[in-house]
Amino acid sequence: METLRVIGGKPLHGEIQTNGAKNAAVAIIPAALLVNGICRIENVPDIRDVGVILEMLTYLGAKVTKVDNNTIEIDSSCVSTYKAPYDLASRMRASYYLLGALLGRFGQAEVALPGGCNFGERPIDLHVKGFKALGATVDIIRGQVEARAGHLKGATVYLDKVSVGATMNIILAATLAEGRTVIENAAKEPHIVDLANFLNAMGARIRGAGTDVIRIDGVKSLGGGSYAIIPDQIEAGTFMIMAAAAGGDVLVKNIIPKHMASLVSKLEEMGVEIEEYDDAIRVVRTSPLKPCDVRTMPYPGFPTDLQPQIVALLTLAEGTSMVTEDVWDNRFQYVGELKRLGADISVQGKTAIIEGGNTLHGAPVRATDLRAGAALVIAALASDGVTVINDPIYIDRGYENIELRLSKIGATIERVYISNG
Ligand code: EPZ
Repeated sequence: METLRVIGGKPLHGEIQTNGAKNAAVAIIPAALLVNGICRIENVPDIRDVGVILEMLTYLGAKVTKVDNNTIEIDSSCVSTYKAPYDLASRMRASYYLLGALLGRFGQAEVALPGGCNFGERPIDLHVKGFKALGATVDIIRGQVEARAGHLKGATVYLDKVSVGATMNIILAATLAEGRTVIENAAKEPHIVDLANFLNAMGARIRGAGTDVIRIDGVKSLGGGSYAIIPDQIEAGTFMIMAAAAGGDVLVKNIIPKHMASLVSKLEEMGVEIEEYDDAIRVVRTSPLKPCDVRTMPYPGFPTDLQPQIVALLTLAEGTSMVTEDVWDNRFQYVGELKRLGADISVQGKTAIIEGGNTLHGAPVRATDLRAGAALVIAALASDGVTVINDPIYIDRGYENIELRLSKIGATIERVYISNG
């Protein structure tokens, strides 16, 4: 069995580089299915979720060439099937982007209902609403989503709830559709802008990404080109919170500081010193942390994908903090694992109440999902003694080589294989 073994209580010092954004990569790679030509994509994080989506493209018949660890070339010209492999697609949430991409390319798509981290109900009704508005029929049969359209035609789609996935999927389906599609109440996350920028670099006409109204004027075809994925806002935020939790002085490089504004303001409220540069942020923590309240919201609000990590940090702040989860119904399953380390947290509905300031002590814990796993690493770095994190496979879904990169800034963390027998 694979585990991560962390010896806590050591401050972090030095520089750490943020990789390309996972949630941009898992949409941009399927978007290459719309491109008639070779796409060279740089700054691709070498993580499990990207591996799975590349496997799916390969299965569909795309030629995927790994130029180096973080650069790939995709040639989709040979893809001739609109049916995604069931087992792979049902393993990850982002497989739903194959729906928009295959529908856009072939006018039909068959993709398993998506899997991925489980935070309660994860509907796709808004994706379906968008596809139907563009003229597709959509059925869910034997665990598969089957979408068909003779001809996709632009339309106006109002999203009843701000949804990252639905916004991206409608962009994918509309890029080659006839006429104009307008997405109202669109999500504004940095990865939405990145997907639009990628498609525009290949010849699409998408305006307004990053605002709540996106206009897509369908084009006849897209040609190949080169594109570099933006830095990962959530990975950068995780490293910043790690530095604040462990103490010390860390320069997190390859960051777009504007993407980090909500986290920076919370860290400053907690007494952490922050210095911003053009593409880096320095995090220094020398004094005790102060409690604060946090509410997750769509961008530019505080990201839900940093909620477990900030809860882990707040367990170290003397006093009471409240963290309210306003995006997902049930994203506090990891709290029981933090309690094993000595955290005092109670969950009431959508709010976690954290009585901070207890000394945390290392213990065996289990990563229940990707960001929960990151929260456990944060708590482990600040705990006395040894924490063994089981199922680090969840962490590997979104963080490349976590133990190696953290070791370079002074963490004592290693991957240890324990025999089950
Ligand atoms: C994306 O998930 C991310 N995943 C998630 O990151 C992230 O937590 C989430 O956006 C919110 O930022 C990927 O990009 C692959 P949503 P997504 O559609 O697109 C409701 C991580 O840790 N909703 O924006 O699935 C939904 O229930 C992962 O990296 C509908 O009601 O999220 C939720 O309450 C985990 N109907 C809210 O909208 C729909 O059709 C936001 O979901 C779709 C969503």
